[in-house]
Amino acid sequence: MRIVVARDYEELSKKAANILASQITLKPDSVLGLATGATPVGTYMELLRIYNEGDISFSEAVTFNLDEYYGLDKENNQSYYYFMMEHLFKHVNIKHKNIHIPDGRAKDIQEECIHYESKIAKAGGIDLQLLGIGRNGHIGFNEPDVKFEAETHLVTLDEDTIEANSRFFISPEEVPKQAISMGIKTIMHSKKILLLASGEEKAEIIYNMIYGKITPELPASVLQLHPDVIVLLDEEAASMLNKNRTS
Ligand code: PGA
Repeated sequence: MRIVVARDYEELSKKAANILASQITLKPDSVLGLATGATPVGTYMELLRIYNEGDISFSEAVTFNLDEYYGLDKENNQSYYYFMMEHLFKHVNIKHKNIHIPDGRAKDIQEECIHYESKIAKAGGIDLQLLGIGRNGHIGFNEPDVKFEAETHLVTLDEDTIEANSRFFISPEEVPKQAISMGIKTIMHSKKILLLASGEEKAEIIYNMIYGKITPELPASVLQLHPDVIVLLDEEAASMLNKNRTS
């Protein structure tokens, strides 16, 4: 794991966008694994700035998002489809057919999950996967569990996740209770991983992810086994690592 500490959220977002932009420059037909949530919003803004300056093109890029709420229509402004359209896709020259997000309204969820996996495989696997991390250590919507769930699957969300994500909804009752998420194996098969974390509320989980034991109780801990991970933090999210270094 390579740990990079940015001064603040703005610098973190710039560094993350630069890594994504470099990936697209080096390999224009990159398969990008993308994430939603508050953390990558600044990254997508910065990526759009780079795009608008004419420095990158998404014309050959292919994307797969990590997850989607179960039961929400694409048009619902809380769906991750909507999020991605607003924050990135509708502003760039990506081909619509190259955008992949699990269908939260699929009639046959099992079939949707299998199909999603096979589309990733057919695209040649993910070149660079962007990740956030939940306060409970989840990546995608792989919640703490007694086992690692390998492939794309239907998840029942943790109370902690529902509470954390309720900031985007009118009330916690409105947060969907289930989601479709790429599995741990899917994520681990990505060639490169870029995990972002910002703010003090992530400091403890980041410390445990890096220095703790590898366990499905802290899903992100499995990233210790991946050969090419950048953990990009702001100073607040890295604050417990600093304490570790000086003690
Ligand atoms: P956040 O979510 O970026 O909104 O903190 C991260 C996550 O839950 O993966």
